[in-house]
Amino acid sequence: MGAVNSERRGRVLVLAMDNPPVNGLGHGVRSGLMAGIEEALGDDGIDAVVITGSGRMFSGGADITEFGTPKSSADPILPDVIKKIEASPKPVVAAIHGVSAGGGLELPLGCHYRIAHSQTRLGLPEVNLGILPGAGGTQRMPRLTGVEAALKLIVSGDLVPAKKAHALGFVDEVVDGDVVETALKLIVSGDLVPAKKAHALGFVDEVVDGDVVETAVAAAERLAAGAELRRTGSLEDRIAQDRGKPEIFEAFKKSIARRARGYEAPYACIESIENSVKLPFDEGLAAERDIFRRCVASTQSQALRHAFFAEREATKIPDVPKDTPVKTIETAGVIGAGTMGGGIAMNFANAGIPVTIVETEQDNLERGLGIIEKNYANTVSKGRLSQDEMDARVGRVNGSTDLADLAGADIVIEAVFENMALKKEIFGKLDEICKADAILASNTSTLDVNEIAAATSRPESVIGTHFFSPANVMKLLENVRGEKTSKEAIATVMGLSKKIGKVGVLVGVCDGFVGNRMLYAYTRQAGFLLEEGALPHQVDKVIFDFGFPMGPFAMGDLAGLDVGWKIRQEREHVRPKDLRYSPVADRICEMGRFGQKTSAGYYSYKEGDRTPVPDPKIEALIVQASQDLGIERREISDEEILQRCMYPLINEGAKILEEGLALRASDIDVVWIYGYGFPRYRGGPMFYADTVGVKHVYDTMSRLHDEHGDWLEPAPLLKQLAESGKGFGDL
Ligand code: CAA
Repeated sequence: MGAVNSERRGRVLVLAMDNPPVNGLGHGVRSGLMAGIEEALGDDGIDAVVITGSGRMFSGGADITEFGTPKSSADPILPDVIKKIEASPKPVVAAIHGVSAGGGLELPLGCHYRIAHSQTRLGLPEVNLGILPGAGGTQRMPRLTGVEAALKLIVSGDLVPAKKAHALGFVDEVVDGDVVETALKLIVSGDLVPAKKAHALGFVDEVVDGDVVETAVAAAERLAAGAELRRTGSLEDRIAQDRGKPEIFEAFKKSIARRARGYEAPYACIESIENSVKLPFDEGLAAERDIFRRCVASTQSQALRHAFFAEREATKIPDVPKDTPVKTIETAGVIGAGTMGGGIAMNFANAGIPVTIVETEQDNLERGLGIIEKNYANTVSKGRLSQDEMDARVGRVNGSTDLADLAGADIVIEAVFENMALKKEIFGKLDEICKADAILASNTSTLDVNEIAAATSRPESVIGTHFFSPANVMKLLENVRGEKTSKEAIATVMGLSKKIGKVGVLVGVCDGFVGNRMLYAYTRQAGFLLEEGALPHQVDKVIFDFGFPMGPFAMGDLAGLDVGWKIRQEREHVRPKDLRYSPVADRICEMGRFGQKTSAGYYSYKEGDRTPVPDPKIEALIVQASQDLGIERREISDEEILQRCMYPLINEGAKILEEGLALRASDIDVVWIYGYGFPRYRGGPMFYADTVGVKHVYDTMSRLHDEHGDWLEPAPLLKQLAESGKGFGDL
């Protein structure tokens, strides 16, 4: 049966999906399941069916790569397979382990009974791909859990543990092999265990008949012996109370309005869940299919699918193959207990890796360690971390004022302030202190990693690891490859990124690397817009409405304006004086307004409130700056603001690609989605350029260059793509 293996266990037919790596529900699996069910229905020797997954999970859902590709009429669609299962007079039981996501959960929802291993994660994450569950999930889930829980689950896209799924009502039984306890027993006893047990413990992937299946076969036999089958589509009790109450859905929409602005899929999910209480089951299913088709064809869904694959593609480095040896990272060191250093250390502690933070002064060290504890305590007080877990994490963070304490660390990340001389001094010392195979990393956001590496006798072990602030929260990690960085160091750090919960993207050495270099092109234009006639709140609103969490000026206030001011002062002597320069930011800093930390920056802030309030003093300052520069202020449209901010950013991305500093356009998209909050549903800046048309971006840049000169000259790559009618996705 192709991608589905079948096996008879007495009078029960066990169908095991077998389509690595995630048992995606592609053509082979769907037709295999259909054939299996038909075989069971036509065979008097079969009383019941169990559906399970081979390998490490039940199923990761529909095969996303099939979306938008034509299907043959002989190819059964998933909703029909599930309908057939639900209507079957012979019981069908789902035996679930690992992951059950998307269509990979909708399939069990159509079964008559669901059994999950306690370590399973289940959910309907389709919203993250810009679609809704399109195989009955929006109609069956509310019938099992009630509308409120279904709304939360489907609109968040979260995967939840089996026990929660059981409590919510969409898993009937949890097979509770206490994996940790059993593992301990196993190691202490030194026993050899049968494959079935090894599978339940998680260290064998390929045994189909784990405990879940065994339990499922027993349940199938029980059901076949005469119990009435529970068909999800016929259930009424949990949704009856929510019929005729549109206010539930209105309230839910309101609750997500800010977070989901401009993002279509959450609203498509809500519309379809509402149908579960408004329409008869079959009509609800048909409407779900229509909405699904609409969503799949949308630009937002294409963008979100692009983002999904881009993130996974970024892990692949052409000249660093998958089998490159990696160093095991069991202990880490961080130099600097400031905001960055502390955040970086927390990532290690969270991932179970003991970390030593080194500071020069005891006071600073204690302050840094104190902030880490306070951060954890905040998370505990919000109920997102247990006190025990906090204690364990804090226990993994040690402090020291002696670099020599890093002698045994497998990786050391330097996170002191941006000063080349200081960094070189530190790396020189690390070279003497650290063990021979340690990785020496710098969290620099601007400096030349090659120069830092040259301060050591082992430049092959030196790499940049550029974290984003707050380092314990932001998911991006720009890993900077120096000229001499070894493949082993790259493979190790890319693997480590995932281990500490980050999305690692490999970039080359240049000023600002990929993210900040592009950011500069954007914020520079935002500054010029102020002089020409816009005000900070107008620019910020356009960028916020585009989908960023905040605009450039609110972001500046949050990050602190003094940082950039200091850098500008240091670099004043090398600034090209023939290029345009906006004095506004400097003038604001000269007033002692450094952003939120001084309750005043581009905006003013009320005590204890982070809401930016437009300030007439700043408006006057900006108007004065225009006057001083001899610029006549004009009305600036929202469209111009968006183009002036985003297109130079894309243009800089094109230059970065030309220079080979990012491996692919999609890597740049990942950097911007995870490092700067570029709206994921727009796919990142380079994908966005393709959706508006590279030619249009090029034409606009050419016009802007004619009007404003400056650094707005279109990148040769942009020109080349525009002239050949291609996009960044074609590279
Ligand atoms: N379709 C196609 N390929 C998929 C896939 C899917 N649904 N899910 C994962 N893959 C691929 C990945 O691209 C990756 O490929 P490469 O090795 O070539 O890079 C490989 O499978 C392994 O994936 P991960 O690295 O993500 O593996 P993981 O173990 O870390 O995570 C997972 C497993 C939780 C299932 C994760 O892959 C995931 O979240 N997948 C997407 C789940 C999802 O969104 N499902 C809904 C699909 S839409 C749907 O089902 C519509 C419907 O209503 C019918």
